[in-house]
Amino acid sequence: MFSYETLKKVFFQLSPENAHNIVEFTLRYSTKLAPFMLANLSEKYFFTDARLEQDLFGTHFLNPVGLAAGFDKNATMIKPLTAFGLGHIEFGTITPNPQSGNPKPRLFRYPEFESIQNAMGFNNDGAKKIHARVQKIYPFAIPIAANIGKNKTTSSEDALRDYETLIEIFDEVCDYLVINISSPNTPGLRDLQNESFIKDLFTLAKNKTKKSVLLKIAPDLETKAALDICSVALEYGARGIIATNTTIDYSLLPNAQNFGGISGKVLAHKSAKLFHELAQEFYGKTTLISVGGIDDANEAYARIKDGASLVQIYSAFIFKGPSIASAISKGILKLMDADGFHHITEAIGVNHR
Ligand code: FNR
Repeated sequence: MFSYETLKKVFFQLSPENAHNIVEFTLRYSTKLAPFMLANLSEKYFFTDARLEQDLFGTHFLNPVGLAAGFDKNATMIKPLTAFGLGHIEFGTITPNPQSGNPKPRLFRYPEFESIQNAMGFNNDGAKKIHARVQKIYPFAIPIAANIGKNKTTSSEDALRDYETLIEIFDEVCDYLVINISSPNTPGLRDLQNESFIKDLFTLAKNKTKKSVLLKIAPDLETKAALDICSVALEYGARGIIATNTTIDYSLLPNAQNFGGISGKVLAHKSAKLFHELAQEFYGKTTLISVGGIDDANEAYARIKDGASLVQIYSAFIFKGPSIASAISKGILKLMDADGFHHITEAIGVNHR
């Protein structure tokens, strides 16, 4: 087998989107055509330890390291991705109707900063096709979450209906749902991060589903705005907060494009800072998930001690490869040992106790 560093040299010769499509194609068809490859990967990377297991959202997590939304937009890779030791997978963002997303190029990598900039714009196969795909595998071996968003052509006035449709469609085929109104790549979407829309949205969600519905927020919100929005969401039934999506702070990357959202190492500080501010207010009151620039066990553990029950990765999966999730889980166990914690729940939010 090639090392990931060797594979990366080849992949990084390709455009980021072509590289992603090749990985998608390979993983998607590996379940049928190369089960031995998956078995091999699974043997290497699948990871669980009783000290990391948790019950959340009415389901069971084998470890706290999940895959963030946007990598498996169409839910074509859920089975093979499980071989990489991920504790959960968030598929999507799915919109009601299929859409092709923004014009290319729309995905840029910055290897020297281990960061990515994307302006994909919710390219996806649409709710009907993706539902049919997920229905075949649900309930699944690890928790899977549906991340949902509105279509580009849906006006803000009609946005609620898009979320309603998506909740109805995906309610039966996922363990929890995530409301995405924090992507910077759908015009007007982030404007829905306002109290009135959130109130209407979670009121509706409560009537439509018994599943947990979480809110994913942007790192670019002022602290007060973020706290207010999350308070309203929680008051009206949100069962958790995922912080954060990508940032539009283009000063973080030299030579950044002036569009799209930035993720990866340069996002870590900003994302962790907002997460901390939210955790100060909401730790102990709801379930918090931290995402943004997490690329090793130290960073993941810091977020856990700051109140994250789960963490998610995306960019680190690209820059550090398929071993990253299990490496983080194993590293967390070592850090727990050093702190004398027997179970992850003792570490979660310890900074706030
Ligand atoms: C994303 N992200 C994302 N988030 C989301 O809620 N829905 C989506 O469709 C996407 N799409 C997407 C595409 C690409 C190419 C990237 C790099 C990211 C954001 C992602 O889930 C995560 O919040 C950020 O990437 C921050 O985490 P990392 O990458 O710093 O670990």
